[in-house]
Amino acid sequence: MKRLILLSSLLFGGLLSTHANAAGGEPVFAFTPHPDNIASVQRGARDFMNYCSGCHSLKYLRYSRAAADLGLPEELVEKSLMFTTEKVQQPIVSAMPAQAESWFGRQPPDLSLVSRKRGPAWVYSFLNGFYVDPSKAATGVNNLQLPGASMPHVLWEQQGFRAQVEAPEGEHAGAEHGGHHAPELETVIEGKLTQDEYEEMIANLTNFLIYAAEPGRADRISLGMKVLFYMLLLVGLTYMLKREFWRDVH
Ligand code: HEC
Repeated sequence: MKRLILLSSLLFGGLLSTHANAAGGEPVFAFTPHPDNIASVQRGARDFMNYCSGCHSLKYLRYSRAAADLGLPEELVEKSLMFTTEKVQQPIVSAMPAQAESWFGRQPPDLSLVSRKRGPAWVYSFLNGFYVDPSKAATGVNNLQLPGASMPHVLWEQQGFRAQVEAPEGEHAGAEHGGHHAPELETVIEGKLTQDEYEEMIANLTNFLIYAAEPGRADRISLGMKVLFYMLLLVGLTYMLKREFWRDVH
């Protein structure tokens, strides 16, 4: 019996785990994802359409699917969230023409799978990692998470601008602690939001990108639960049947 339980948990445990393996550096800031918080995902969707879809596509997600999953009426999505396409059945493409590469040095990548490729904390840290860097002539900013990033700080009106805090004389930031503490940024130009409100905004955006990477996640988990329940029921019944068969043999 014990072995059966072990076996079924080995086989089906994988259904319930989410696996995001970070690539391209450990996340600079800590982040706890909440992709099941529908209100947060909805706000993230709204902000994505407003501030990100001009450059980034989500080519594996259709507006109609997002509308259904997030409980938004299609007419509302059509009227207030679709800036780049005409039909709700179409995937979320960006308005960026091909020459964008010559503007930014790099075509803004499709973000459908970014939360799986990089991990949610990476995405959150990237959005929280912009700081003023005059040596970056094109955008005026650099990024703690992706040094040399060619994305402008598009949410500067919300966050304002931050700069790196100078390390005190003779001290190399965090060297004696193994260099593993979060680097310090301080606000040099205030934005419309406080830093806390900004962090909530980018948490919503990150939650939305987790949803976008796997729109079927909620369905998958509820299906997994049903399968597990069914397997356990079957194990119980089979065991009772076995006892019934062997009762007279002993
Ligand atoms: C003006 C165009 C533009 C806008 C608007 C924009 N981005 Fe970007 N973004 C870029 C470019 C260009 C890159 C490539 C950066 C690089 O690799 O140097 C990028 C990269 C990224 C990456 C890293 C992808 C990877 O795996 O390397 C993420 C995440 C991202 N953007 C999220 C966002 C979010 C969220 C928004 C909306 C708040 C947004 N971007 C708005 C241009 C834009």
